[in-house]
Amino acid sequence: MKEKLELILKNALSEINDAKSMQDLDEVKLKYLSRKGELNSIKKNLKDLSDEDKRIVGAFANNVYNQLDEQISTKGEELYKVELNKKLEAEKIDITLPSDFRPQGKVHPLTQTVNEIVEIFQGLGFTVMPSEYSPEVETEYINFDMLNFPPDHPAKDMQDTFYTKVAPNVILRSQTSGAQIRQMLNQNPPVRVISPGRVYRCESVSARKNNLFHQIEGLLVDKDITFGDLKGILNEFVRIYFGSARPTRFRASYFPFTEPSAEVDVQCIMCGGKGCRTCSGTGWLEVLGSGMVHANVLRNVGIDPEVYSGFAFGMGVERLTMLKYAINDIRLFFNNDTRFLKQF
Ligand code: DAH
Repeated sequence: MKEKLELILKNALSEINDAKSMQDLDEVKLKYLSRKGELNSIKKNLKDLSDEDKRIVGAFANNVYNQLDEQISTKGEELYKVELNKKLEAEKIDITLPSDFRPQGKVHPLTQTVNEIVEIFQGLGFTVMPSEYSPEVETEYINFDMLNFPPDHPAKDMQDTFYTKVAPNVILRSQTSGAQIRQMLNQNPPVRVISPGRVYRCESVSARKNNLFHQIEGLLVDKDITFGDLKGILNEFVRIYFGSARPTRFRASYFPFTEPSAEVDVQCIMCGGKGCRTCSGTGWLEVLGSGMVHANVLRNVGIDPEVYSGFAFGMGVERLTMLKYAINDIRLFFNNDTRFLKQF
């Protein structure tokens, strides 16, 4: 029996030594040390021995068991390390590999300008008008008449305004100013809103003009509003949008729906005021129209001009974007050429 045990020990040790993987090792363990393994089958025969032999052989069998168990766990640790290293090697990620190219879209430059201007006016206490007060298909009545345009005003001419066949006097709006009317018909003062949107004009397309462009309308109506308030707000806007170093000026102008009216100019960004082609030699660039809301307009919407006063302004989004980034052709905004759009 002792010889048998010695043989088992010898064979098992050499099989442990030869094991190439954790799986090989598990098989060796199963073969020799498990309940149905070779060592146990010998132990089962111990009962046939004398007490003396039982003690000696039993102790030897335990000794064999312990030796094998220890060898198996030592070998197991060794094999585990080898296998782990193999696995790490195989699953190594090369972070220096170039990644897949995923082209990413960007916000259109005109939308960027609208967002920027809306944010500036929100900072000055204005809110964005509900879009239902600012439809692109509009009536002549709102777009012109309510804004105090005389019936024979040249802007109503077919050459300036797109008429539709929907119904007589239904047009594509030529300006966002009609939104002022709808806002005041729906809200009593105080009113402090802006309204960005698309407008349409029947003109031949050129580097400076497009049939479709964007405006942002502003309106503030309350008690005791003066031209000083208008100047303060618009100066602040231009200062933030163009940077505080750029001088501005207010120039008397005319719009049917404001009295008095003023246009705001900024010093030419191309020549710094010396006079160049962009500013037609004047040194100034017009950036927006504005004025005190005409008493007739207030009356048209049922607001008493003896109690309330206000100011309005309107600016071209394309123009403001072109001035800021020195873009010389309005058509670039509408061609969808990614070489242009990518720059913003
Ligand atoms: N609607 C004018 C235009 O399209 C711009 C404008 C001027 C709007 C003066 C205003 C304003 O609200 O007060 O040329």
